[in-house]
Amino acid sequence: MTPLQQHLPWTESPLIINAPMAGFAGGALASAVTLAGGLGLIGGLFSMEDLKAQLQTASSNISSNTALASSKTLPVGVGLLPFVLEADNVLPVIQEYKPVVVWLFAAKTLGDYGVWAAKLRAVSPESKIWIQVGNIAAALQVAKVAKPDAICLQGADAGGHGFEKGAGIISLLPEATDVLAEEGFGGIPLVASGGIVDGRGVAAALALGAKGVVMGTRFLAADETSVHPKYRAAVLEAKDGGQVTKRSKLFDQLKGPNMWPEAYDGRSLVVQSHADHVNGVNLEEIQRLHNEEIKGEDAGFATGLKGRAAIWAGTGVGLVNKVEKAKDIVLGVRGDARNIMSGIAK
Ligand SMILES: Cc1cc2nc3c(=O)[nH]c(=O)nc-3n(C[C@H](O)[C@H](O)[C@H](O)COP(=O)(O)O)c2cc1C
Repeated sequence: MTPLQQHLPWTESPLIINAPMAGFAGGALASAVTLAGGLGLIGGLFSMEDLKAQLQTASSNISSNTALASSKTLPVGVGLLPFVLEADNVLPVIQEYKPVVVWLFAAKTLGDYGVWAAKLRAVSPESKIWIQVGNIAAALQVAKVAKPDAICLQGADAGGHGFEKGAGIISLLPEATDVLAEEGFGGIPLVASGGIVDGRGVAAALALGAKGVVMGTRFLAADETSVHPKYRAAVLEAKDGGQVTKRSKLFDQLKGPNMWPEAYDGRSLVVQSHADHVNGVNLEEIQRLHNEEIKGEDAGFATGLKGRAAIWAGTGVGLVNKVEKAKDIVLGVRGDARNIMSGIAK
C-alpha cells in the first residue's frame, strides 16, 4: 500500500481528486467524490462560517456510509489560501472537523507554508498537509520547510490561479520527482494537476510518476458543483483550450487592485475584458465596464466569450462537454484510465 492509500483507505486506484475550487467546490461535490472512491476537497473561502457549513454538508452526506463515517478524520479535505487567511481564524474549524487533508496553495512566501503546517499539525495531527506548487524550486523549498505529506505539482495548463512562470506537467512532474529524490525527499508522494480532464490525462500523469490526479475544470461540469449557469454554459461551449483560454494577471485586476502574491496569475477564458485589454482599452475603463456588468443577473458571465467576468478554466476545457454527476465523472475517468493502462501494458 502506498502512503496515500494508507491514509485514504477508502480510495480506489487511480486516485481521482477534485480541486478545492473556492466558491465552486463545496460539501456536496467533495462528499460525492469521496463516496465514489476519490478524494473530495472543499475550497475554503474567507468566511469560516461558510466553510463550516460546507464541512457540515459533507459530514452529513457521508454519515450514510458507515465505514467512512466511522473514520477518525472527516474523509474529505479542505483547501486553504493562506495569503487571504489568518491561521488563528481557521485553526478552530480544522480542529473541530479534522478533515483528512488540509491543502495549502498561494502563501505569500514559501516560508509561510512551514508556519501553517506546524500550526495545523498542532491542532489536528491526524490531518495530512498537502501543498500545491508550480515549479521545481518551490517543490523543493516546501519539502524542506513544511515536510508536506503530499505535493501537488500544478502544470501551466491549469485553470484558475497558478504560477505565472510554469511548465506543463509532462516535464514538471518527472523533474520534480528526480530533484526531490536527489535531495532526500523521494518519500513525499506527488500528485498532478493542470489540463487533466479524462482517463487519457490520468493515465499520462500516472506514467509521469503521479500518485493521484487533481481535476478542476472537469468538475466545473459536475452536477454538485456550485457554478452560475452562464459560467457553466461557457465552459461547455469552449473548444480548443489553448486558443480560448489565457494566463494573465488582468483577470485579478478586473474588480480592483490585484490581491494575489506576485508569483501568481490565473487562466480564464479570453472574455470580453481580455479582448478589450488586448485592443488597448485602459484598465480603469475595463474595470468600470466589468463592475457594472457583474451587478446583472448573469453576474458578468456569458457564452461566446462575450462576458466581462473571469471564467477560470484550464486548457482541457475543450474536452469538457456535458454535465454529469460527480460520481459518474470519477467512475468514468477511473475506468477509462485503467483500460488505457492495461491496453498499453499488452
Ligand atoms: C474555477 C477554478 C477555481 C479554482 N480555485 C482554486 C482554489 O480556490 N484553491 C486552489 O488551491 N486551487 C484552485 N484552483 C486550481 C486547482 O487547484 C487546480 O490546480 C486546477 O484546477 C488544475 O487544472 P485543471 O483546471 O486543468 O484541472 C481553481 C481552479 C479552477 C478551474
